[in-house]
Amino acid sequence: MTDNQPAPDGVLRLINGYWATGVVGAAAAHSLFTHLEDGADTAAKLADRAEIAERGAQTLLDGLVSVGLVELHEGRYRNTPEASAYLVEGKPTCLSSFATLKLKHMGGLAALPDVVRAGGPVKDPTTEVADNPHWEEIVPAIAAQSVPAATTAAEVLGLAEAGEISILDVGGGSGIYSAIWLEANPAARSTQLDWEPINVIARRLLAERGVADRFTTIDGDFHTTDFGTAKYDVALYSHIAHQEGPDGNVAVFARLRDALKPGGALVVCDYVVDDDRSGPAFPLIFAAEMLLKSKQGGTWRRSEYHDWLGKAGFKDVSFHSAPPATLVIAR
Ligand SMILES: C[S@@+](CC[C@H](N)C(=O)[O-])C[C@H]1O[C@@H](n2cnc3c(N)ncnc32)[C@H](O)[C@@H]1O
Repeated sequence: MTDNQPAPDGVLRLINGYWATGVVGAAAAHSLFTHLEDGADTAAKLADRAEIAERGAQTLLDGLVSVGLVELHEGRYRNTPEASAYLVEGKPTCLSSFATLKLKHMGGLAALPDVVRAGGPVKDPTTEVADNPHWEEIVPAIAAQSVPAATTAAEVLGLAEAGEISILDVGGGSGIYSAIWLEANPAARSTQLDWEPINVIARRLLAERGVADRFTTIDGDFHTTDFGTAKYDVALYSHIAHQEGPDGNVAVFARLRDALKPGGALVVCDYVVDDDRSGPAFPLIFAAEMLLKSKQGGTWRRSEYHDWLGKAGFKDVSFHSAPPATLVIAR
């Protein structure tokens, strides 16, 4: 290696990136972060609590120290603040079920070279299939990721003080936005349009949070189900635009414009890329997920959202950061 040649460490870390997915997913599957939080601070204690081999526990601990999610002090292990906030079960922001789900998805990435050649899924696309069991797994696992965006949107729109508003959430999934917005505003009502098995999950989660009496669901495909006319003060389209192509998004935005009362607001939340596609990092790499799983999806530029919303009849469009996502608010 010459003096000015960079070291291979970074490239090797990326090539072996699946080790991190594996170690974090396996640790989450065995509730290791939760047991660490409860005071099991050695491999032997963790093995006992999680009912796994001590050799397995030690290997996971070594891996978690390596990726920076667990710290070692005088022979005792503990969660880093990040692991404590995002990987301990029972916390509203917990991502551990997402970590185990991603470990299950990892094998699918082996198809990426073929998918790239074909320009789309080589087996059945995931997102276009009606009533796909994929959503039943993914929807509860991604709910925690929408908490910061839902909270930011509520602040930007002043929802807590907005009085008797009606909300339409298209592809609402777990109903996490409705849960947070109905908790913030006791006079608000929300309707979610999604597939029937997903709505069952959402109604259960909203009942657990004590707001199900102001939550209704419509079962169906949002491409074909009527949204109504001038019915809603706020409409929501969160993490759906990336599964649709440009024409699909314009068509839904136009129908949502009609479903909103005059002056009503559409909230789009998604992984939005800069116009020159130079960043941000997360939305750029998320495009690979959509290439694998959707026929026409992708991560769309700010200028594309602007253009589509204008075509759909919205006049005023603003962008608000909710990392790694962006909120696009249109009136
Ligand atoms: C990525 S999840 C987003 C969930 C939620 N909006 C959020 O941001 O957390 C996509 C959701 O859209 C729903 N969905 C996808 N295609 C749909 C369609 N054609 N009709 C109705 N719902 C659909 C899925 O069932 C799932 O709940």
